[in-house]
Amino acid sequence: MASLNPIQRTAQQQFDRQSDRYGKGHILSDVSDVRAALEQMTWLNTGKALDMATGAGHTGLYLASVGWQVTLGDLSTAMLERAAAAARERGLTVEIRQHAAESFPYEDGSFDLVTCRVAAHHFSDPSAFMRETARVLRPGGAFLLIDGSIEDGRPIAEEWIHELEKTRDPSHHRFLSQGTWKRLCEEAGLQVVFSELQPFKQPDLNWYFDTAGTSPENRAKVLEMIRNAPPEACRLFRLAEEDGKIVWWWQRLVLAARKPSPQ
Ligand SMILES: C[S@@+](CC[C@H](N)C(=O)[O-])C[C@H]1O[C@@H](n2cnc3c(N)ncnc32)[C@H](O)[C@@H]1O
Repeated sequence: MASLNPIQRTAQQQFDRQSDRYGKGHILSDVSDVRAALEQMTWLNTGKALDMATGAGHTGLYLASVGWQVTLGDLSTAMLERAAAAARERGLTVEIRQHAAESFPYEDGSFDLVTCRVAAHHFSDPSAFMRETARVLRPGGAFLLIDGSIEDGRPIAEEWIHELEKTRDPSHHRFLSQGTWKRLCEEAGLQVVFSELQPFKQPDLNWYFDTAGTSPENRAKVLEMIRNAPPEACRLFRLAEEDGKIVWWWQRLVLAARKPSPQ
């Protein structure tokens, strides 16, 4: 793998350290969001898929289970080992490649589908990721992004959630707004087919602290930020307490785009 920049290295170290949190029972093992999005991508047939920043492989292994020929890419060794073990356990054959999302080791036009779920907010250079995605898609191929995001024109809430996530998990880089993702797709030469912000409930802040291995000092800082959350953030993320747990709603972006076929 090419040498990593500091943002990529932080993500690699964080996920190598925390990989045991991402297997079965993790909130991401429920792939109903992926299934629902693919159902809307009615033009897609199965073919070759790259699941980028695959983590424990929940999305990529779902694709393999419904007939896609899947490559799982990630920069964390421990996450890829976890994904490989899950594939073996489920009797699924996949190719595993270790590389960063900002630079792919694949030929132009190698894939019919690129997916990236709940990972792009860690990437050091989302435009480079989009350029690489567009490059490796064959004409007519599709891109599916699912990630935390935010409405456009909400700078106070955006800054607040950015600081909070960064304090909770040092490998967080930035949530991009829906409009920014659409622009990055279009600049890379992909046509956005649909894009929707879907509120997604995060049911327990303590579970998220444990998942990221947040230090006691940073847990205290996050709780302080929640106590002092600006009204825009309280409203947008529906911050609340339920049965003694702090809950909030992610603005989760589901975006599908397509690489145009030559006329
Ligand atoms: C939350 S997990 C992904 C979850 C997974 N996509 C799923 O659907 O279950 C985030 C993953 O992003 C990977 N990651 C973060 N930054 C990356 C980068 N720049 N390039 C490649 N992988 C990256 C991490 O190693 C980690 O495995």
